[in-house]
Amino acid sequence: MPATINPLRYPGAKRQLIPYIEKLLSVNNLTGSTFYEPYAGSAVVGLELLQKGIINKLILVEKDILIYSFWRCVFEHTTELCKRIEETAIDIETWKALKPLRDVKHCDDANLLDLGFAGLFFNRTNFSGILNANPIGGINQTSSYKINCRFNKALIISLIEKLSLLNEKIELYWDDAINFMNNTKKNFLKETSFVYFDPPYFVKGERLYRHYYSKSDHKALANFVRENKHFDWLISYDDDPYICGLYSGFGAKYRPFYLDYTVSSKQRSKGKELLISNLPLPPITINRSNIVENA
Ligand SMILES: C[S@@+](CC[C@H](N)C(=O)[O-])C[C@H]1O[C@@H](n2cnc3c(N)ncnc32)[C@H](O)[C@@H]1O
Repeated sequence: MPATINPLRYPGAKRQLIPYIEKLLSVNNLTGSTFYEPYAGSAVVGLELLQKGIINKLILVEKDILIYSFWRCVFEHTTELCKRIEETAIDIETWKALKPLRDVKHCDDANLLDLGFAGLFFNRTNFSGILNANPIGGINQTSSYKINCRFNKALIISLIEKLSLLNEKIELYWDDAINFMNNTKKNFLKETSFVYFDPPYFVKGERLYRHYYSKSDHKALANFVRENKHFDWLISYDDDPYICGLYSGFGAKYRPFYLDYTVSSKQRSKGKELLISNLPLPPITINRSNIVENA
């Protein structure tokens, strides 16, 4: 399996959590369940679990129209998207031509491919994969790193073609996560479900995403899981006292973890990120790029 298992280089992607979440599903008899990712982003966790046959179905929800459109193109317009990637120059002129698509608010059949390609293009050509950022190398391309340095067309196309084979097991929605969950919650009674919430970061969300949360939005998510007890869930967050306060007092379990963290016994006591769940959470440790369960 290549290190890049996803065509997006997404800020806050949770690739390192995949082994842990796989283990969590297994010890709680949730293997084969329907897996919800209501803050999809790169959807790296759900897509990997689906590819491995750990889950049976993947429901993705994303509010950012560029990211949503990208995934729709991957699953419904694979050939056209790959052709567009093949034929488009990855340079600053293309970046400038696509820039107005960052302001589009609606998507339909007429602009879906443009939006989907733009989502991929900005994600792979901008600083840190941030859709609203400037291009790698700057507008004037004066740096030794150029706009195309993270855009390996052949690799991206092969990842897209591989993921497109999963399309029959994926449902994709352009929606607000909590709105979607409220409209969908009756389904949880009909099938074994697990919901992995990875909301925008509490502190850095505004810098990283075009849609991010206010304090009251974070509170609304906590209220949703507090009030809806008929499904199992996991939330990943930045470790902040405000977030801890939202989830205290109704039996949620916590585990701190360390993303992109080189193991250091001295530093391990500081929680950088947080897992919260209604399920008992096994201990976690970081082993460089992966999280593994403690022996
Ligand atoms: C922390 S990222 C998720 C990263 C993802 N788990 C991954 O591994 O790539 C949060 C995502 O939520 C999306 N988002 C922000 N507000 C949202 C909302 N109200 N409803 C649904 N998605 C939202 C952002 O666009 C972003 O893609």
